[in-house]
Amino acid sequence: MWGFGAIAAAAAIPACVGARSVLDLSSQRWTLSNSALNISVRGKVPSQVHLDLHAAQVIGDPYYGQNDFNLRWVAWNDWNYTARIDGLKPSNTSSTFLLFNGLDTFADISFCGQHVAYTDNQFRQYWFNVSDILAACNASRPELHILFPSVPATANGIANLPNQETWPPYVQGLFEFSNRQFVRKEQSDFGWDWGPAFVPTGIWQKAWVLQLAPQELHVRNSLVDIYRQGQLNNLPPGQSANWVLNASIDVINAVPSGASMTYTITDLATKQTVNSGTFANITNGHGVITGTTTLDGSAYKLWWPSGLGAQNLYNITVDIVSPTSSKIASVTKRTGFRTIVLNMGVVTDEEIAQGIAPGNHWHFEINGHPFYAKGSNFIPPDAFWPRVTPERMERLFTSVIEGNQNMLRVWASGAYSPDFMYDLADEMGILLWSEFEFGDALYPVDAGFLENCRLEADYQVRRINHHPSLAVWAGGNELENLELYLVNYSAPDQLGRYRAEYETLFLNTLLPAVYGNSHSITYMPSSTNNGYLSINFSNPIPIVERYNNLTAGSVYGDTDYYNYNYQAAFNLSMYPAGRFSNEFGFHSMPSLASWRNVLDADEMRFNSTTVMLRNHHPPSGGLNTTNFYNSSIGQGEMTLAVQAYYPSPNMTDPIANFSAWALATQIFQADFYKSQIQFYRVGSGKPNRHLGSLYWQLEDIWQAPTWAGIEYEGRWKVLHNTAKDIYQPVILAPLWNVTSGMLNLHAVSDLWTPVTGAVTVGWVDWSGNTLDTSTGAASESVSVVGDGDGARTLSFTVGALNSTLLTALDIASLFPSNGTTAQQNASNAVFVASVTATGTPVNTNVTRTYTHTNYWTPTPLAKAALVDPGLSVRYDAAGDDFVVNAAKGTSMWTWLSAGMEDDVVLNFEDNGFLLLKGEQKSVKYTVIGDGGREGWRQRVTVGSIWNHTLAE
Ligand SMILES: *[C@@H]1O[C@H](CO)[C@@H](O)[C@H](O)[C@H]1NC(C)=O
Ligand SMILES: *[C@@H]1O[C@H](CO)[C@@H](O)[C@H](O)[C@H]1NC(C)=O
Ligand SMILES: *[C@@H]1O[C@H](CO)[C@@H](O)[C@H](O)[C@H]1NC(C)=O
Ligand SMILES: *[C@@H]1O[C@H](CO)[C@@H](O)[C@H](O)[C@H]1NC(C)=O
Ligand SMILES: *[C@@H]1O[C@H](CO)[C@@H](O)[C@H](O)[C@H]1NC(C)=O
Repeated sequence: MWGFGAIAAAAAIPACVGARSVLDLSSQRWTLSNSALNISVRGKVPSQVHLDLHAAQVIGDPYYGQNDFNLRWVAWNDWNYTARIDGLKPSNTSSTFLLFNGLDTFADISFCGQHVAYTDNQFRQYWFNVSDILAACNASRPELHILFPSVPATANGIANLPNQETWPPYVQGLFEFSNRQFVRKEQSDFGWDWGPAFVPTGIWQKAWVLQLAPQELHVRNSLVDIYRQGQLNNLPPGQSANWVLNASIDVINAVPSGASMTYTITDLATKQTVNSGTFANITNGHGVITGTTTLDGSAYKLWWPSGLGAQNLYNITVDIVSPTSSKIASVTKRTGFRTIVLNMGVVTDEEIAQGIAPGNHWHFEINGHPFYAKGSNFIPPDAFWPRVTPERMERLFTSVIEGNQNMLRVWASGAYSPDFMYDLADEMGILLWSEFEFGDALYPVDAGFLENCRLEADYQVRRINHHPSLAVWAGGNELENLELYLVNYSAPDQLGRYRAEYETLFLNTLLPAVYGNSHSITYMPSSTNNGYLSINFSNPIPIVERYNNLTAGSVYGDTDYYNYNYQAAFNLSMYPAGRFSNEFGFHSMPSLASWRNVLDADEMRFNSTTVMLRNHHPPSGGLNTTNFYNSSIGQGEMTLAVQAYYPSPNMTDPIANFSAWALATQIFQADFYKSQIQFYRVGSGKPNRHLGSLYWQLEDIWQAPTWAGIEYEGRWKVLHNTAKDIYQPVILAPLWNVTSGMLNLHAVSDLWTPVTGAVTVGWVDWSGNTLDTSTGAASESVSVVGDGDGARTLSFTVGALNSTLLTALDIASLFPSNGTTAQQNASNAVFVASVTATGTPVNTNVTRTYTHTNYWTPTPLAKAALVDPGLSVRYDAAGDDFVVNAAKGTSMWTWLSAGMEDDVVLNFEDNGFLLLKGEQKSVKYTVIGDGGREGWRQRVTVGSIWNHTLAE
């Protein structure tokens, strides 16, 4: 018996009608302590040690300066979180449970001085019956005590256990802390090339004490699966079949036998109940009750990703009803009706006859329609998840939508995304390619580890499955294309063993966690892969992986492309021509304003110690365990690329020079990605039938040289604006073939109906004069409508989800090396093409006009005869926009900025653009925060590649 003898009797009466009590542990007063270090401070739930130490001013801002090194001691120490629990119900008729939605990572839990459990997985939900401990507890306010032992120390201990598994050299990707493959924790916490290594610990998700009477239930997790009747994972379903609604609820305490389940479906647009009924085929046991029903296949409005239709959402309420017809538990999930499949099926003879290369497909289909996936890779937006708020995520996702993106690959090796992130994606129409948190490593396959992974996957699949934004589940990141490749490189005779182990985890363990819970979602074991060799649902594990069993001339799979040799950057023949590009990129520096938040004044240099220490590229991986990365190589790669392709900043003011160099690296990054994205999109009309570009990476986790297009504070780098431009539905893509010397101009459209339009092509010089080079066309697949002063108009039609070659220019004959006329001076020429086209946005019947301008120069800007374009910018209060003008010449990479006003975080809807002489452009903007500054609009600056004037 414990504590409340006198009042327990009184409380026993309401207990008859329900003693249910849910005590949120964030309401308790927590202490974080380390006795050896003599630290005892206020703790929080949910939180992590670093955040609580920072709030208590024991440590400085973890992101400042070299604190990622200075704070290593936090990770190497053990930490206690303790709280005396107030407010437990004085009931001797109830059972008491601890429920944790996330403990990061190893946690030794005691309650009232008694050991409860030891946990070892950041990604699992844990619950414990502590009724007996409470009954025997003498304290009026029993103490909940959780010891978080050092993760790096524990990981090393696990690695050193007798008979522990080992791997061949180079296989285990290594940054700051080793042995992460033994730990079910965010893998990038141990270090990554784009981020810091803090290895935080703590009660990182919500936690509760539950007190339930014997018949009372608490819903701890639930599954809603909506699919077309007959649908099988990984295969395109019939679109006219009925819907099947499968619901399954995980409860604490036993569901009485004979319980039933009912549902109510509410259309969130009309707020009307549109259907209700009773589930059939109830199964009940082990704290899970499951039922199934069939719904009319055409009665629900479909959910579509952004740009492809509306995001129609429904609430589905599922009630558990006792045999005596009382409602004993209820859960409401907001969901949508859609099918999404990653189609890896064999290319048919009919498709081959239409021009598609043989092999296998590798593209997504939403509601039966192939579409072009446009987007990027999402990494953890912070090294400390508890400080990632829904507001911050909404700002980031707003940038995704503004950037014309419809899909994010949520990279494996971070953390499973919180529900609020999927909720926002459901509302905004962002498909989230989701992955189990395994990456760039091979993992143990002992029974305990596999069971831990199985329970993790089961919990996460069930939690997330109802979100219409969920696009696919992948087992992990870069496993087949990198990890098994490394085994083959380092120990080819052991490939069979490690491939079998890989399949043990990624096919035999994780696939059933998906297929066993969901009929609606595709699973693939690795993010980058050549698809399956076969799929047969009469086998226990239906998928047989293809690996590198390829037939010449056939095309399979998605691609991952990195090449840090600047000389190859614009050589299109180096880019992979697969079916889909899920990773590609190059790093760049964040802006001066971003750096100012974390650098001392004397560190504000391109190659200062702190800046260099934040460049983790290239990783040395397992090659050299004493030196995690060689940052001078990464800083050098960015420098060489700028020097090769653009005028190099050379300013006397060191801060202005730092800022200009940072921007110049961003321009190369944007230019390189644009070159790839337009090449990949042209591939939608090529035999490889390319249907997706997701660049690496959407956003930053901190302020560092990384592959991000959006800085930690939310500012767009040049890349985000440039990607926004080239991800528009209808674009022009000039592709330069370095071997043939031809410039091929394509029109590309990802609309689902043909687009008709006219393209104007012509040449200008840097002073803004029109150049007459109209004789350059070597071939034309379109009719020439007008042929005036060097500018010509071509009319064209491009088919649905397709590209077409408009014209091919023989650059060598236009600009002969022995050319003598001004028109033949390649260094003074800019090719400009503009399209105006009419088309019908997907899933609408209103015609719309699409415009796009693209350009190309026959020499790199580093060698071009640039002149002062005479840029000016003024804020126009009437239009609430900025008006930019180039009075004297052609302006390339025209860049608006709040300049030195670091507190002002804003994004311009267009930036990094081409401005022709005399052109006036109005640019709208979004303010993320202005730090209370006044009058900054009058101080917005404009610069360009000509003089990098930004920071002056
Ligand atoms: C955590 O608390 C336990 C129990 O009071 C104590 O034995 C241990 O030394 C503490 N560890 C640290 C790091 O403070
Ligand atoms: C949908 O469900 C959510 C979550 O339970 C609830 O807050 C909301 O009010 C519901 N909306 C309607 C229209 O029923
Ligand atoms: C219930 O199970 C039976 C037998 O497996 C099946 O024929 C029927 O379609 C199921 N009902 C629903 C609503 O799924
Ligand atoms: C390679 O693929 C072909 C089918 O394309 C198949 O017949 C063959 O068995 C595969 N080889 C291996 C080693 O899996
Ligand atoms: C930065 O350092 C690298 C490596 O030493 C060097 O190659 C590069 O030129 C430097 N970059 C700048 C902008 O100073």
